[in-house]
Amino acid sequence: MTLAPSIVLATYATHGLPLKSKVERAVDELIGSLPNPEDLSAEQRRGIIARYDTVLQANFIYWMTATYLSVMSDEARAIIIDNLHEEVGDCHPEMLRRFTAAARAVPTETDILAVARDLTNVRLFMGRKSGVKNIITMAFFEGFIQQFMTPFAKLAELQGSSEQEYTIVHGVCDIAHTQELYRALAAEMSTNPPDSTTDLFEGVDLLRTLIQAIVFSDGGLAETA
Ligand SMILES: [Fe+2]
Repeated sequence: MTLAPSIVLATYATHGLPLKSKVERAVDELIGSLPNPEDLSAEQRRGIIARYDTVLQANFIYWMTATYLSVMSDEARAIIIDNLHEEVGDCHPEMLRRFTAAARAVPTETDILAVARDLTNVRLFMGRKSGVKNIITMAFFEGFIQQFMTPFAKLAELQGSSEQEYTIVHGVCDIAHTQELYRALAAEMSTNPPDSTTDLFEGVDLLRTLIQAIVFSDGGLAETA
């Protein structure tokens, strides 16, 4: 018997919490660990924007595409295709490039190397194309991005930039994107469930480490946060 996707999502539990709640809690904990933009130096603010740009501009659409290639349910595919149409049609990488350039935070070699190892780990994980695990990772990513847009905009503002299309668009549209990915997750779990020994949060753990490298990679910040 195949359960309805909503029943699968509501009843699937990890460590006593429904899966969706566990992803949301992981996002909230990560957001809660971030430094206040106003407590940072100009160089620390510039570095966060530059490393975020390094990771997101070239990889968000790539990882959503890897997730599309990973899933087997028609409903999950349709949801992910809608997301990709918006990303590509509205050219979100160009929005981010403008945001970064206006904040005078175009990545340097040092910025690129600071996230290289953790970025590679996420790339290799997404390339293993595990449908459910990839969707969970992208739901975590979308949830993080949506909540990060307020401090991210503040970082740029403090750097003297008034360019905020990227942060405004993603603070709004990623709310819907995140919810749609949970619907995709439920559909995929009923069509292509992972075996019970799978670590469903492997990708979330790798992506959290990468985001921490974006925010904290310059030395003492990790200790002060
Ligand atoms: Fe986007």
